[in-house]
Amino acid sequence: MEDRLKEDIIASGRFGREPEHPVDAFEKLDPDKGVTRPTGSSANMKTRTYAVEKMKEAGLDVRVDAVGNIFGRKDGINPDAGAVMCGSHLDSVINGGQFDGALGVFSAIEAVRRLEDEGYKNMRPIEVVVFTGEEGSAFGITLLGSSTLIGKISYEEAFARRDPKGRTLQEALEYMEYKGDFFMDLDTVAYFVELHIEQGPVLFNEKIPVGIVENIAGIAWIYATIKGVGNHAGTTPMKMRRDALSAAADIVKYVEKRANEMVDRLGSATVGTVGKLNVYPNGTNIVPGRVELGIDIRDVVSENMESLKQDVSAALKDLEQKYGVSVDITIPTTHSPEPLFKEVIDVIEKSAREANIRSMRMNSGAGHDSQNIAKRVKTGMIFVPSVGGISHAPTEWTEWGDIENGVQVLTRTLRNLTQIPEGKVLENNDSVQGSV
Ligand code: GLV
Ligand code: MN
Ligand code: MN
Repeated sequence: MEDRLKEDIIASGRFGREPEHPVDAFEKLDPDKGVTRPTGSSANMKTRTYAVEKMKEAGLDVRVDAVGNIFGRKDGINPDAGAVMCGSHLDSVINGGQFDGALGVFSAIEAVRRLEDEGYKNMRPIEVVVFTGEEGSAFGITLLGSSTLIGKISYEEAFARRDPKGRTLQEALEYMEYKGDFFMDLDTVAYFVELHIEQGPVLFNEKIPVGIVENIAGIAWIYATIKGVGNHAGTTPMKMRRDALSAAADIVKYVEKRANEMVDRLGSATVGTVGKLNVYPNGTNIVPGRVELGIDIRDVVSENMESLKQDVSAALKDLEQKYGVSVDITIPTTHSPEPLFKEVIDVIEKSAREANIRSMRMNSGAGHDSQNIAKRVKTGMIFVPSVGGISHAPTEWTEWGDIENGVQVLTRTLRNLTQIPEGKVLENNDSVQGSV
């Protein structure tokens, strides 16, 4: 493979590791310590700055919008034609890997470099994009930058969100010097493509190098705070307790059991996870007085996701009677399941064929900015295999050969999409809606 992309991933993969160091092989990963670069952290800032440098070196005109989304434009022969946008995100989960998001950004830059090297003249403009806060690891909702871009949440709401340190997004962006004044009008964008690691086991197990996404699962988060009474663990009789953690334990098991029941009954792709639990005051000799839970619910079918969301909310409320606790529930913006566009899927499939790379169609269980952008722009996604199906963990890895396959398909996809004449009506303009 061209070493540039590998170099970019390894170099940017230093940021957010403790201590900062490059990792170029799976064997060199520390299974306990991954990459942590939540939005607004210095690691997030360094990764952004590295990417911007590479965008500028590739000749892109870089602009930053009010929520810190970064855009790098390569003009087209027809500068007024609808652009082809391509990219992903640079923030990470707590203790994640160097490929989730970053691969999509650096592959987009590499694709632009390869097209330039080939002397290819794109008819449509290309916009490389870095979305802010995809993971939700700092500001409490996933897909923050793209949600603002499509108007799903207002700029004011986005700016006012706070991270665990109490900083607003506005303050975090100012700290990173990534609060710009550019406005990207999505009406000037015709297509969007995001390359991403699969983050699941399908491609790896099937030994298929490229996945083409048909549907992206929806994500619903529920935050719950259970308040009981903190008290002495030795002196408070069992019958007189209002133990917030004991109540929370019911929910942890309920979410798992109910999601399993749905899978058994409906054959659905429903998943439910309690991924976050804060116990206060968190002392061995103290009956827990307060517990905060973060619950993640997903499905490619909206009704299933809603039904599990409602069941879990009801079960949370039932705790009040059962344990004498009080329960507060907050549900941040829910992202609905989203079908991607047949027209773009077909172009990606054709591009893989041209490159002699085997591909398969599949769904995405992970959330992506693509599901937001697909509400406004014809969108497609390219997946590459995750070793062992692991992601959102320090041992997340993708083989360099698979990355090369992915970027070849992406480069051809950009070439093919930028050639589609403005205004041409293709045979099937529809999304794959209904194929779920
Ligand atoms: C985002 O990466 C998500 O799927 O949680
Ligand atoms: Mn991602
Ligand atoms: Mn992720």
